[in-house]
Amino acid sequence: MKKNDKKTILSASTSSGDLTIGNYIGAINNWTALQDQYNCYYMVADLHALTTPQEPKALRERGLSFYAQYLACGLDPEKNTLFMQSHVPEHAELAWILNCFCPMGALNRMTQFKEKTAKSEKNLNAGLFTYPVLMAADILLYQADVVPVGEDQKQHLELARDLVDIFHHRFGETFSTPDPYIGKMGARIMSLQDPTSKMSKSDENPKSFLSIIDPPKTLEKKIKSAVTDLGTEVSFDQSEKPGISNLMTIYSVLSGKTYQQIETDFEGKMYGHLKIELAALVIETLKPVQDKYHDLMKNKDYLDGLLRDHSEKARATAKQTLIKVYDKVGLYPRPL
Ligand code: TYM
Repeated sequence: MKKNDKKTILSASTSSGDLTIGNYIGAINNWTALQDQYNCYYMVADLHALTTPQEPKALRERGLSFYAQYLACGLDPEKNTLFMQSHVPEHAELAWILNCFCPMGALNRMTQFKEKTAKSEKNLNAGLFTYPVLMAADILLYQADVVPVGEDQKQHLELARDLVDIFHHRFGETFSTPDPYIGKMGARIMSLQDPTSKMSKSDENPKSFLSIIDPPKTLEKKIKSAVTDLGTEVSFDQSEKPGISNLMTIYSVLSGKTYQQIETDFEGKMYGHLKIELAALVIETLKPVQDKYHDLMKNKDYLDGLLRDHSEKARATAKQTLIKVYDKVGLYPRPL
């Protein structure tokens, strides 16, 4: 029986690069909106981060920084289980089992892997290839019913659903089948420098993304230097005007205004006007988040305490699923 009979949510962000306004709009903002209705698990996916080269000290610091940013964005530790992936060893354990049932062909189809392979052959490793299986393990361990993600993660979620089918076909009902939850707006925020590709937190060009903890001056500069399109009219048209449409999407999500309202507000004005107002809005939206973040980062003992308590809570649930899975596949029971 699930806690309070509420449905369960799991979601996460990989602790590589900087959390961006894309992560905020496409994911964390939705997570906070769902925390009252669901039994929620939100995780810093630090094991996933190892699929790309990381400097150990920076990775360690970033783990805590992401955790503090989750809290600063409004995730309430009283309402959610907030933990670090590597603190719950069951993730790696279930991933191994699922790897043994995951067809190679399914992983070969993953767009994100193909894109990363196309960009550089240099850092390819087996972890990058099987990453969606670890992601499936993250979700299935908690019997998650719903997984709030941006568009880019939808295919990975489909793989998790396929793995549930494969496993159930062989061993009978074991997991909940997770459904994606994709927010209506801002499911895909685009790069400020190349509005035809996704805003990515690990982009080598920091001007392409707005970090949640960028200082106000930096946010302003980055927005002002965002690539826009031919023409001057502020109107929403993703194929003809991808740059200005992306800025309008961010503006729309943060202000609650529709594209039509924005077009009316900026009638007769130019792209530059929208950029100035967007910068003010982003700075105003992120100010309370940044203030809270800086306070939290001064209180490492508090953060460490939360991490300890919440990983214990997460483990209690994860363990139950893992024991069930080990039993189903025929592993000899662990001594208690
Ligand atoms: P990650 O860290 O790339 O992104 C975290 C969340 O933010 C969303 N997102 C975006 N949404 C809109 N526009 C963007 N430009 C944008 N960039 C990122 C992502 O869709 C995601 O929801 N593999 C995952 C992390 C993960 C996970 C999981 C997610 C690990 N285990 C289990 C869900 C369930 C990832 O790398 O997301």
